[in-house]
Amino acid sequence: MIHQALKRLEYRGYDSVGEVTVEGSRLFVKKDSGRLEEVHQKYNLDDLPGSTGVGHTRWATHGRPVQENAHPQVDCHSRIAVVHNGIIENYVDFKRDLEAKGHKFFSRTDTEIVPHQVEEYVKQGMSLEEAFRKTLSQLEGAYSLVLLSSLVPRTIICARQESPLVLGIGQGESYCASDISAFLPLTKRAVVLEEGEMAILNPSGIKILKTRDAEPVNRDPISITWSVESATKEGFRHFMLKEVHEQVQTIKDAMRTHQIYYDLMAGKLAEAKRIFVAACGTSYHAGLVGSFALSRLAGLDARVVIASELSEEVLDLVDKNTAILAVSQSGETMDTLNAVRDSKAKGASILSITNVMGSTLMRLSDVYIGQNCGPEIGVAGTKTFTSQVAVLLRLAAALAKNKGREKEQRAREVVDALYRTPEIIQDILHTKEEVVRRIALSIIGAPSICFLGRGVSVATALEGRLKLLELSYVPAIAYPAGESKHGFISVIEEGFPVVFVAPKDETHKKVIGNIMEMKARGARIISLIQEGDDEVRSLSDDVVEIPGGKLPSLVSPIAYTVPLQLLAYYLSVGKGHDPDYPRNLAKSVTVE
Ligand code: F6R
Repeated sequence: MIHQALKRLEYRGYDSVGEVTVEGSRLFVKKDSGRLEEVHQKYNLDDLPGSTGVGHTRWATHGRPVQENAHPQVDCHSRIAVVHNGIIENYVDFKRDLEAKGHKFFSRTDTEIVPHQVEEYVKQGMSLEEAFRKTLSQLEGAYSLVLLSSLVPRTIICARQESPLVLGIGQGESYCASDISAFLPLTKRAVVLEEGEMAILNPSGIKILKTRDAEPVNRDPISITWSVESATKEGFRHFMLKEVHEQVQTIKDAMRTHQIYYDLMAGKLAEAKRIFVAACGTSYHAGLVGSFALSRLAGLDARVVIASELSEEVLDLVDKNTAILAVSQSGETMDTLNAVRDSKAKGASILSITNVMGSTLMRLSDVYIGQNCGPEIGVAGTKTFTSQVAVLLRLAAALAKNKGREKEQRAREVVDALYRTPEIIQDILHTKEEVVRRIALSIIGAPSICFLGRGVSVATALEGRLKLLELSYVPAIAYPAGESKHGFISVIEEGFPVVFVAPKDETHKKVIGNIMEMKARGARIISLIQEGDDEVRSLSDDVVEIPGGKLPSLVSPIAYTVPLQLLAYYLSVGKGHDPDYPRNLAKSVTVE
């Protein structure tokens, strides 16, 4: 049953697999890195004793995908097993404290502190439930946690904070899972566990409590009518749309990586005499934002290079005093890996930002930071782009330390604004999706579309262009707005759609000049503006207003890219294409 349920959850993460059951006074664990069927071939996951068990598929955040980091994680005496989705931000403090008390750790995961801390409290005389609740009250970060123990067999305890967890009520059986699709063929009766709640499951039923004070919660089950397929997309028509919506959460998750990793990478960058940011496609656009940020917040000259061009363009300049900052969500893009390998051979230090722990890029790196996005199924990068930008901005902010009061202040403003972006994205998704859909349908016949911006918004314009052309197959153009008058403007004729990325930042006045130039030639102006920007609104045929007030320009690509993702999505769907699997493209380009 668990094996089949994991199959339905594999799209959420698949670098390692584990199962644990309890029988008598023993836990039985099978786990390893690899995809579900590979691990099953090796260990036969269906052969575990008992009638209470937990399974997990992992997408690594802390610790590479190797056997010891797979879940479940257990305490010192293999009596308490825990699986976990999410990130425990303060695990380093717990680990230090528990090690001082004699606990032995076997993994590099943040998760492992949970069974050990629970073990510690049980040793002090608490019940398993109390010990778990007390541990939860001290955790910072995001989690859905499920605990199974031979101390109280035929019981599962689970809890959630910011990561999803749903309960299922069967006939003499109870279930919990990170999404309904896991148990949908077994029961249609479900209870959603809310933020800050925990639940105790046994075959006869489910008890829900508030984690904070153990106050009981009564909640009626709901009847689920979704198919397994629509449940994996959480009701969205496509994975891409689901992933666009997930950005509210993934930005928060990208921000959870401990400051020590940023300081480590910042130290390497500060030491380097030369910095090249190497990436392809969407990751290159994130890298562009990164290079703006490194120059503005830290006074560093970091040149962004398209990875496939690095060896031709700058390899002669690469030496042991060079740092290569490679950005790649998959960590397997051949062009990026080649740039990294060529540079490594010349002694450069390799730093990377990637969404895939255990990827080749991660293994080639001296220091890496994970994006913590979970797998992205849609071929077009969406949530991974905004999280790359968030990580790069935090990295630049870490480098602003000791760079003078003005830079430090700017860095603080950037980090503060970063923490506001999930709410802004939420607002855009609630109030602007229909506006964007209508704009998309109104330009569905356009033979070409242009995206313009200035400053860091050039990166946003480039990203909007890439999303649109790869998903709708409409040849699209993106330019620095100021450059457009040096040639491109001759293309403009009556009704040509030009999308301006026009936040109210230091480029605003000049962008207005560029809008007027385009308008005078008959272009149809579609502008992304800060809410209430009447000046640009009055010059535009359509506007999408970005809520949340004034954002530091470096942060604006995170918010302003979201409507452009939606524009590409609705244009693609409107033309009858499949935005999840655009033609001729692969999620990970492993050829030169
Ligand atoms: C566009 C897109 C691609 C990737 C590029 C690099 O939506 O997804 O352009 O960004 O192939 O991939 P990674 O980031 O895996 O190196």
